[in-house]
Parts: sequence; C-alpha cells; structure tokens
Amino acid sequence: SLVHEWSGISSLETILTRQFKIQKVIIVPGNNDVEPSVKTLMGTEAANELERLANGKKTVAVTGGSTVSAIAESLTPSNKFSQLQFIAARGGIGEEMQLQANTIASVFASKTGGTYRTLYLPEYLSENAYSTMMQEPIVREMIDLYEQTDIVIHGIGSAEEMAVRRNSSPEDLQALQSFGAVGEAFGYYFDETGNAVHRIRTVGIQLEQVHKCPSILAVAGGTSKAKAILSYIKNPAEQTILITDLGAAEEMIQLL
Ligand code: BG6
Repeated sequence: SLVHEWSGISSLETILTRQFKIQKVIIVPGNNDVEPSVKTLMGTEAANELERLANGKKTVAVTGGSTVSAIAESLTPSNKFSQLQFIAARGGIGEEMQLQANTIASVFASKTGGTYRTLYLPEYLSENAYSTMMQEPIVREMIDLYEQTDIVIHGIGSAEEMAVRRNSSPEDLQALQSFGAVGEAFGYYFDETGNAVHRIRTVGIQLEQVHKCPSILAVAGGTSKAKAILSYIKNPAEQTILITDLGAAEEMIQLL
C-alpha cells in the first residue's frame, strides 16, 4: 500500500524477514503501546492471512490474549472459513475470561461460521493432576487435535507481564527471572537466546507440535514487546508469519 511505501515499512519487512529466516513479516503502522487501535490493524492483517490459508477442512489452534482477540473484529462469514475448526491452544483458564483461548476459539467460530472445541482446565496443575488428566478421553482427543493442527494463531507476551497476569507465585516469578525468561508464547517462556526455559503445566499444544504445523501466525506489537518477540523468533519455525507494528519493528532493528 501507499502507506507502506511512503513509510519505508516494506523495506523493514524485507530486512526482518531475512534476519529472522521466517516466511514473512507484516508490519502495520503505529505503536501498540500508545495507540491501542493498532491491534485492530494487526488483526485485519491476521484475518487476511487466515483467509489466504483457509481452504478445506482445517484445524486452527488459537491462544488467548488481547492481540489475538482483536482478530475477531475482522473475521466475517465466508465459505472459505466455514470448514475451519477452532481449538483452544491451551486449556488453562488463568486469565480474564475475554482473553482466554477457549473464549477466543468460540468467538472466532461464531464470527466465521466455523466450529470450535474447548477445554477448561486450571492454569496450573500439580504433577499428579496433570498425569491423571492426560488419561482422560476428552483430554486425549484434544491432544490428538494438537497433533493435527494445520494453523496456529498466537500472541507473544513479555515474560514478566504474562507471569503477573497469570497470578504466578512470587517463587515462580523469581524462577522465571533466574532462568532469564524474556518472552512468552502459548505457555512457554523463552530466554534471550531463544531457548524455552519454562513451560506452564497445563494441557496445551507443545512447542514441537507448533513447529510441525504447516502455518503459524504470530501476532504481537508495541515497542515494549520487542525483546519478547526477539526471544521467541530466535529459534523460529521457518513457516512463521510474524504480524507486528512499526513500534516493535523499529525497536527490534535497534536491538539486533
Ligand atoms: C496470552 C497467551 O493469553 O496472551 C500468550 O496465552 C500470549 O501466549 C499473550 O503471549 C499475549 O497477550 P496480549 O494481550 O499482549 O496480546
């Protein structure tokens, strides 16, 4: 678009795509930290990408978060969407209801005319509860769906903000700090070098399953998320499409 050319955004997209070695970087103008309307712009781009990727019967795993949630505004019923099945990427219910993956999966389905599957589990499970849960047929079905996921749509958060939002205990917060956690996506925490240093023990899509997925849409913007995005994108799946904003993109260039 004109805005793109004029602001040099498209060359920034090319630079970051090459640098990260991923399929595509899409940058919308603005900075989510100061203009919340930027989320709508990122959401529109994500909805367009989803429409491009959607054909036939596909399973789409979605995470929670306000950025992924904003995609809903740009979703409209279309034949292309009607065969999609949206599933919650994680069963954990640690966040505000509107921001939970389960809620978002059902909203996406009602916006597009697709179907959805949810799984409601506590955000943190004890080791015992976790292994018992894993035997439950309803959980097994969800895990099978994670194996067959065609598209993952997820947000990226700063590690600290996510830990606070999830009511992590002071001990957990300290542990995350000592592991050097910087970014978070689908319940995994990543350090600066891109290693997953911690994972929340609840039922959800595994990092390996995300990497096996044919398509990944990562959506996150705002200058304050630059470090978090870099920590996640350090060890990327090459099929990743990153949708971000100029605020984060310019900060990432500075940090590289
Ligand atoms: C959470 C997701 O709900 O939202 C996380 O589970 C993600 O994986 C986070 O990092 C991002 O939230 P927001 O509101 O900043 O888009």
